[in-house]
Amino acid sequence: MINNKIAAQIIAESQFMQDILTGLQASPKFMQAKYFYDRAGDLLFQKIMKLEEYYVTNAEMDILTKQSGKIADLITSENTPFDLIELGAGDATKSIHLLKELSNRKLEFSYMPIDISAGIISQLEDHLPKTLPGLSVIGLNGDYFEMLEKGTTLSSRRKVVLFMGANIGNMDVAEAEDFCSTLRASLTKGDILIIGFDLKKDPKQILAAYNDSHGITAAFNLNLLTRINRELNADFKLEAFEHYPFYDPESGACKSYLISLKSQEVRIGEEALIHFEAYEPVYMEISQKYSLQDIEEMAIATGFQFNQRFFDEHNYFVDAIWTVV
Ligand code: AVJ
Repeated sequence: MINNKIAAQIIAESQFMQDILTGLQASPKFMQAKYFYDRAGDLLFQKIMKLEEYYVTNAEMDILTKQSGKIADLITSENTPFDLIELGAGDATKSIHLLKELSNRKLEFSYMPIDISAGIISQLEDHLPKTLPGLSVIGLNGDYFEMLEKGTTLSSRRKVVLFMGANIGNMDVAEAEDFCSTLRASLTKGDILIIGFDLKKDPKQILAAYNDSHGITAAFNLNLLTRINRELNADFKLEAFEHYPFYDPESGACKSYLISLKSQEVRIGEEALIHFEAYEPVYMEISQKYSLQDIEEMAIATGFQFNQRFFDEHNYFVDAIWTVV
C-alpha cells in the first residue's frame, strides 16, 4: 500500500506539472506565483523582505508594531469570544504584535493560522505558545477556503480574519473581488476582515521594489525555472531568460515577466517540448496596487462595510478593517 504522505506528494507533483504545462502551452505564456515558494524560494523571499527597496514589509511592520493596541481594541469592542483566523500566516512575525495585544485583554480567543506549508504550521503550533503562554493555537494546513470551512465547523465563535502582507496583490482586481466575495460567503454578519493593501504611489518607487539593485527579485523569479528543472525534469537554461518587471501607474498593476532572450526550445519531462520566440514574455506574477477609493469600492462590492484603516508613517500601505454586513 502506498503511504498517504507519498500519495499526497505524487498528486501535488502532477498538479504542478499540469499547471506548468497549461501555462507554457497557453498564449501568452504564464506561470503561477504560488509555485515560487519552494525551500530556495522561501529563502529568497525572506531576503526580499529585508531589502531597503522592498518597502512593503517594513511599512506593514510599522503599522503592526505601533498600532496593534488600537486594532485589538476594535476587535474586542464586541465583548464576546472569537476565533482569529490568519490566511497565509507565514512565520507570524507581523501578527505576533497583534496576538500579544489580544492576549493582554481578558477575552477568550483561539488563533487559527492557515498556511499551505505544513512545516510553517507545526512550527507555529510549537513556538507561539512558548512566546505567548496560554495562547490557544489551532494550526490549519491547506487551502484557504477548505481550511476556513474547517475553522467554522471547529467552533461557532465569531470570526476575525487576517489577510495581510499584501497577499491580495497577487490576484488581479477581478480575482481579488471574487476572492473577497467567496470569503464573505463563508462568514456571518458582524465578522471582521483585516486586509492589507499596498497603495499606489510613486511609480519609480514601486518599480524599484520589484527590480532591486541586488538582483534578488530576479533570482526569485528565475528560481521557479530551477524548481521546474529539478522537480519536473526540464532543461531551462537560466541565462537564456531575463527578469522584466513593469508597473502601470494607471491600473496599478505591477507585473513581472521572464523574457526569453532568444528563440529556443525547452523540454519539460519526457514528452513536452516548448518553443519560445526571441523576446517572448512569460507572465510570472502580479502585485496589484490600490488607491483608497479602489479599496472602498472593493469592500462595498463584495459585501463588507468599510470600518477603519491603519497607515504606516509614510502612507505606503494600509491595513483596512472591514465588517461583514
Ligand atoms: C508576497 C505577494 C506580497 O507581491 O509584493 C515580492 C511577493 N514578489 N517581490 C509582493 C513578491 C516579488 C509579494 N507578496
